[in-house]
Amino acid sequence: MRFPAEPFRIKVVEKIRRTTRDERVELLQRAGLNVFLIPADAIYVDLLTDSGTGAMSDHQWAGLMIGDESYAGSKSFFKFESAVRDVTGFPSVIPTHQGRVAENLLFSTICSEGKTIIANTHFDTTRANVEMNHAEALDLPVKESMDPQLGSLWKGNMDLAKLEAKLKADRDNVPMVVMTVTNNSTGGQPVSMENIRGASKLCKQYGVPFFIDCARFAENCWFIHELEPGYKGKSIIEIARELFSYADGCWMSAKKDALVNIGGFIAMNDVELARKLQQKLILIEGFPTYGGLAGRDLEAVAIGLYEGMEQEYLQYRTAQVRYLGEMLLDAGISIVRPVGGHAVFIDAKAFCDHIPAEQFPGVALTSALYREAGIRGVEIGSLMFGHKDPATGEHVGPHLELVRLAIPRRVYTTAHMTYVAESIVELHKSRHAIKGMRLTYEAPVLRHFTARLEEV
Ligand code: F0G
Repeated sequence: MRFPAEPFRIKVVEKIRRTTRDERVELLQRAGLNVFLIPADAIYVDLLTDSGTGAMSDHQWAGLMIGDESYAGSKSFFKFESAVRDVTGFPSVIPTHQGRVAENLLFSTICSEGKTIIANTHFDTTRANVEMNHAEALDLPVKESMDPQLGSLWKGNMDLAKLEAKLKADRDNVPMVVMTVTNNSTGGQPVSMENIRGASKLCKQYGVPFFIDCARFAENCWFIHELEPGYKGKSIIEIARELFSYADGCWMSAKKDALVNIGGFIAMNDVELARKLQQKLILIEGFPTYGGLAGRDLEAVAIGLYEGMEQEYLQYRTAQVRYLGEMLLDAGISIVRPVGGHAVFIDAKAFCDHIPAEQFPGVALTSALYREAGIRGVEIGSLMFGHKDPATGEHVGPHLELVRLAIPRRVYTTAHMTYVAESIVELHKSRHAIKGMRLTYEAPVLRHFTARLEEV
């Protein structure tokens, strides 16, 4: 069997609606061809994101009932704190309602004009929080990550030679080095333990704090378990503990690998820094024992953190994503290789090779995929990252034009994945009928969320 059957059975179901093609054409017109603006109720398989879209287990739902909603000193907080400490080893644990608040607390405290935060690759909200605080967000991914066709391992890694050169030259202006595991922006690609150890060693040598953006740490640890010599006999929690032991702290959007719909945290060794962040937390999120979450949410994270590390679950999870990717590859569709942990990234430049970057091939593909099959993916290309050069008016786009199909955790079955793959293969046959697009409305920042377009 190419794919291990789901290691769970279904206790509660949620109906999803199959719309007609005519209905979808109409909805797309109303949404300015932007799938962000389509009501979720009219989507059959929603692969917009794997964040907060997972299904909780019966244990997590039971946990909601025993959530302690005390304003201060909630029992659920101590359970949450103890789970985070157990996995990460960091003594100071600060709950936040999602990942970007942890980023806001951290970067508003350590960033200022002239400083540089270095990462393997900053996720967009991470970059935005660094830049909002007048610092530079410098990405130092390995060069292999730039080639989507290269099926080599560990394409999430950081370029350690470049890291060392930067630290040597400018150590005083680098308040932090960040490793994002898995590396979402390069295709959900894993980072090897060797690379984490190497980055940690350099940071120690130059006296720079090293943090992990650990939204998908369990998926990353699964890849280490499977692919890195010496880890096959270790459990995922042992691998995770080793990974965190190289760092000074971490933050997590628990909406991914902790299998909850909302939640996050920041944890670290530095008690002084933690105190500063807690003061800010009280201002923007709430008291340090709930940080913008209900007691029941804390309970769900405490349980989900462990469920997310179960080997049977991770084996199925990564195999499901790979199954979708391999069905596309078998049909000759170009995707980012190897398949990452949480999503399949279609190479929209190759799929729509008749559409130039300034006509948004990724958006054209996303829109066609919804129109033909009711599936929602997300463009990661010229609409999200491109702009017009103010001097020449020329389009400046990113290196890759991608469409991400992010798979929610424990939500869709293999049959759904087959449906998605077959729909894309069908669309591929008539791909030259997909038309390029032009913008009719764009907001000054983060334009992809609200942009409106029309066919050229
Ligand atoms: N870090 C990484 C690596 C992420 O992927 C995300 C969110 C965040 C931080 C921010 O966390 O959403 O809880 O505030 N990624 C989602 C995605 C939105 O679709 O990839 P958040």
